[in-house]
Amino acid sequence: MSDDRVKSLQIKRTSRLSGFYRQSPERRRARLVEARWVAPEDAESLEGLAGFDEVCADAMVENVIGLHGLPLGLALNFVVDGRERLIPMAVEEPSIIAAASYAARLCAEGGGFAVETDPPITTAQVELLDVPSLEDARSALHAHAALLLAEADALIPAMCARGGGTRELEVRVLDATTLVVHLHIDTRDAMGANCVNSVAEGMAPRLAELARARPGLKILTNLADRRKVHVRARVPASALVSERFSDGGAVRDGILAAHRFAELDPYRAVTHNKGVMNGVDAVLVACGNDWRAVEAGAHAWAARSGSYRPLTTWRAAGDGMLEGELLMPLATSTAGGAARTHPGVQRALKLAGVSGALDLAGLAGAAGLATNLAALKALSTEGIQKGHMALHARRVAAEVGAQGELIEIVAERLSRERVYRPERAREILAAEVARRKEARG
Ligand code: MEV
Repeated sequence: MSDDRVKSLQIKRTSRLSGFYRQSPERRRARLVEARWVAPEDAESLEGLAGFDEVCADAMVENVIGLHGLPLGLALNFVVDGRERLIPMAVEEPSIIAAASYAARLCAEGGGFAVETDPPITTAQVELLDVPSLEDARSALHAHAALLLAEADALIPAMCARGGGTRELEVRVLDATTLVVHLHIDTRDAMGANCVNSVAEGMAPRLAELARARPGLKILTNLADRRKVHVRARVPASALVSERFSDGGAVRDGILAAHRFAELDPYRAVTHNKGVMNGVDAVLVACGNDWRAVEAGAHAWAARSGSYRPLTTWRAAGDGMLEGELLMPLATSTAGGAARTHPGVQRALKLAGVSGALDLAGLAGAAGLATNLAALKALSTEGIQKGHMALHARRVAAEVGAQGELIEIVAERLSRERVYRPERAREILAAEVARRKEARG
């Protein structure tokens, strides 16, 4: 599709696709075309594995014996920096996509998500062992910093040609004879592991020579604390009202209390952050990113004060609005890796209109703030099981063959009876089908 066509598709589209969750995958794809999220000629590529086959798989990893699928869904209602966005999510856990969509709708009431991102810096670590004098080594390394940055850049000409490159040298003391040199490298739209590891390995002998030390490990750090994403959202208390919880202020205060629990207790903070990562990881998986790297960095960041703390903060603003923010390292890639080789990943990036790695980090961060909000709201009001069981009931209904509106009818009855056995679903479905037949005469 031409750039002009993509641009024209991006004009005035809404991420609110009402009733989407009730439709069949086929009908949903058609809706995306109708709503101008997808060009008609691209619609077919949304189906199935989108061209991901054994040849692609075999080129990606070792010992391939088949393919492994996950559902690809879309989180709706996201407005990010004033722009409507669809958020692709690949995840095995039910209710995450629904939760993200629900919370995004609440946040849209307050203007949507506002995103700020650090520059795309990935950091190489070169460990220097048996350093005879830490002070001499540090002075020598600092004195040569400009030269070292240029030497590092010479190892990554393609990255420099794309506007990236080595930005800063930092020396950290680990113990009486051990230093580590950090080379902070702008890797543009790449997560940059290959590039940064090449620099680490290529620069190690030179750094060791200057420090009169022995080179140790040479590898990037996944504590990407120079590559953070900061996402903020506001929700009016009135948007938090539901049938059973009519006081929006009280619901907001419940969310604040849930956040405080996570601030006070690492056991709770871990589960709180799991709820954040539900959103973040699902976007990363859909977009073929290294979610293990982001997970590792996120939890180290959460523990940076010495105790494990939540990745999000919730507070009441002066005007009574619920205000949330997420701040975490989030190193993403839209260049290289799966983005280059996996057609399904390319499809997800295109569908979400992702413009680059920082944009993707913003979407993943917004999804994380959203799933966290949905979890805290559910936990501090009716609990999460009600929503989970309603979705479970829909799945059981679909499993026994219900389609279209029959899914809702069977699921509603299962939920009312609090019985989720397929046999019961089958009985309800058969009775409803028979009833309809009779009504038609
Ligand atoms: C479940 O996947 C995630 C939650 O446990 C998160 C939380 O407790 O905040 C609901």
